[in-house]
Amino acid sequence: MSTVREIRDREDENPITMLTAYDALTASIIEDAGIDVILVGDSMGNTVMGYDSTLPVTIDDVQSRTGAVVRATDETLVVADLPFLSFGVDETETVQNAGRMLKQAGADAVKIESGPHTIALTERLVELGIPVMAHLGLTPQHVNQLGYEQQATDSDGAKELLDLAGAHQQAGAFAVVLEHVPSNVATAVTTALDIPTIGIGAGPDCDGQVLVITDVLGLDDWSPSFSKQFGDVRGEIKQAVRQYRDAVDSGEFPDREHSHAESDLDEFEEWTVLVASSGYSPRAGVNDRELCTGDPIEVVQW
Ligand code: KIV
Repeated sequence: MSTVREIRDREDENPITMLTAYDALTASIIEDAGIDVILVGDSMGNTVMGYDSTLPVTIDDVQSRTGAVVRATDETLVVADLPFLSFGVDETETVQNAGRMLKQAGADAVKIESGPHTIALTERLVELGIPVMAHLGLTPQHVNQLGYEQQATDSDGAKELLDLAGAHQQAGAFAVVLEHVPSNVATAVTTALDIPTIGIGAGPDCDGQVLVITDVLGLDDWSPSFSKQFGDVRGEIKQAVRQYRDAVDSGEFPDREHSHAESDLDEFEEWTVLVASSGYSPRAGVNDRELCTGDPIEVVQW
C-alpha cells in the first residue's frame, strides 16, 4: 500500500507512477495495473465534464469523484486536487475544503496549485495533519495569466521555480508536481530537493511521472505535446458502439442467449386474464397496439 511517507521517502528508488482518475471503474483498473498514486485532478473539468478549462470545477465535484476513486481502491494513494478558488481566499475555508477531502471523501492528501501565496497555507494544512502535494510550473488554474505555455524558460523563472519548490518543501509538502518546465530545470530542482518531484512535461529526471488518464488511453482526440498516448480506447469504444448499433438495427441483438423469458409466468391465472383482456396478441409489439382490440389494460396486483 502506498502511503504519503512511503512516497515522500521513495526518492532515488523506483520512479513514482501517478495517473489521474475521476471514477471508480477507471481507478480500480489503475490500481490493478500497479500505479502508486491516483490524482483526482481538476483536469476533470476538461477531460470528463465538458468545460474548456479547469476553472468551473467545484469542491463538490472533486469530493464526489474522490469518494468514487477511494471506494474502488485499497492500495493506491489517493490525492484530491483542490479546485480554483477553493483554497487561498480564506484560511478557514481552505482548511475546511481540504479537510472535506480527507474526512468525507477519504483521500490521503490534497494537491494545491502552488505559488508564493501557498507557502504559509501548506504549512498550516500540514500542521493540521493534511498532507500536501505542491504543484509548480504550469498551473492551469492561472490560464488567464499564463496560458498553457511552458514555464521557467529563463534564468529568473528557473530561479523562482527552484526557490518556490524549496519553500514548499520547507513548509512540509511531501512531493512537488512540476508541470511543463524545461527538463534541465526540472533536473536541477529534483537534485536540490529532498522530497520527490513528479513531472508532467518536465523530462525524465524527475522522481516520478504523472499523466492525465484520458491522454494515456487515447480517449480524447487531442492531447498536449508532452503527453504520450499508450492506447486507442477512443477507437475501441467507437468500434464497440457501432457494432452494438448495427446489431440492434439488424435485429441480431438481443438474441435468445441475451433474453430471459419467465416460463412460470404462463401459470399465473392473473397473467392469462390480463393478456386475454388486453387484446394483445403474443406477437404484437408496441407498434401493433392499435391493431389490438379489447378493454384497456388494468393494473393487476400479483
Ligand atoms: O489536474 C490534473 O490532472 C493535474 C495534473 C496534470 C498534474 O494537475
